[in-house]
Amino acid sequence: MEKMYAACLTLAVAVSAGMPAQNVQASEELVGIQAALESQAEEAAEQNTEAQSDILIAYFTWAENAVIDETVDAVTSPSVTEPGNVGQLAGWVQEETGGDLFSIKVTDPYPADWDACLERANEERGNNARPELEENVSGLEQYETVFLGYPNWWYGVPMALLSFLEDNDLSGKDVYLFCSHGTGGLANSVEQIAEASPETVISDNIFDCYEEDASSSEDAIRSWASDLGYSRQKETESDVSTAEQRQISVQFGENTAVYILNDGSAADSLYEMLPLTVEVEDYSNNEKND
Ligand SMILES: Cc1cc2nc3c(=O)[nH]c(=O)nc-3n(C[C@H](O)[C@H](O)[C@H](O)COP(=O)(O)O)c2cc1C
Repeated sequence: MEKMYAACLTLAVAVSAGMPAQNVQASEELVGIQAALESQAEEAAEQNTEAQSDILIAYFTWAENAVIDETVDAVTSPSVTEPGNVGQLAGWVQEETGGDLFSIKVTDPYPADWDACLERANEERGNNARPELEENVSGLEQYETVFLGYPNWWYGVPMALLSFLEDNDLSGKDVYLFCSHGTGGLANSVEQIAEASPETVISDNIFDCYEEDASSSEDAIRSWASDLGYSRQKETESDVSTAEQRQISVQFGENTAVYILNDGSAADSLYEMLPLTVEVEDYSNNEKND
């Protein structure tokens, strides 16, 4: 066991951590100092996996809203096979961001036949219908960011998307749109979404892809989400680098304090001596804690 004066310990820790000297309480006490790096890193990693996401990926895709019939011809109706174009895009956004997936589903699914589906969708559009949804997002308030995916249906959004926006209030959230379409592009979809959700902040950075390119768009849509700043990968790296700062924990009596060491040589020497138990005693009246 080494004997140190309180002033020395106070100085070492206070200089390393940039803390005022009076924060260290020591008078004839045993003080244990050890590297806290490992436990801090573990704690950070645990928090990272346990944390609930504040990102929601809500999407509508025909394939999850169709009565799948075995007799449907997969060549004439390619979209109706799960996961569907938008479903696939949504999965990649989920993988990139670590957000929660929510599939928008109607209670009365659409025909799997292309023409029959077109007809019903057109009727709903003409009637300005709001198809009933199976469920709403639970815990919607926990989400700050929403990625909203949909196909172009009849020059706009499937009417179920408007049901979703009216039943799930996205006011104040940051919304990013992604869309898959035929030759029609985004058409009126963005205007319809903005009208149905006037208080929502809709980014004009929108991802869209032609239906036949959807299955090969993984890199493109992942980069899009990442460039927007929502890559789970980047977040994890920055958490780890924070945790990897040199930290020491100092135990005195029943108290424990964790300090981050600076890059100075005094801090280096202290760190190399760890773990360390020292006995401290008052040195002068200057740095006593009482
Ligand atoms: C009912 C219906 C209407 C559609 N209307 C359009 C349209 O007006 N313009 C367009 O470009 N694509 C249109 N499409 C094609 C889809 O937007 C496209 O195939 C999309 O990739 C489908 O995504 P999904 O597989 O996730 O449903 C329509 C598809 C369906 C089923």
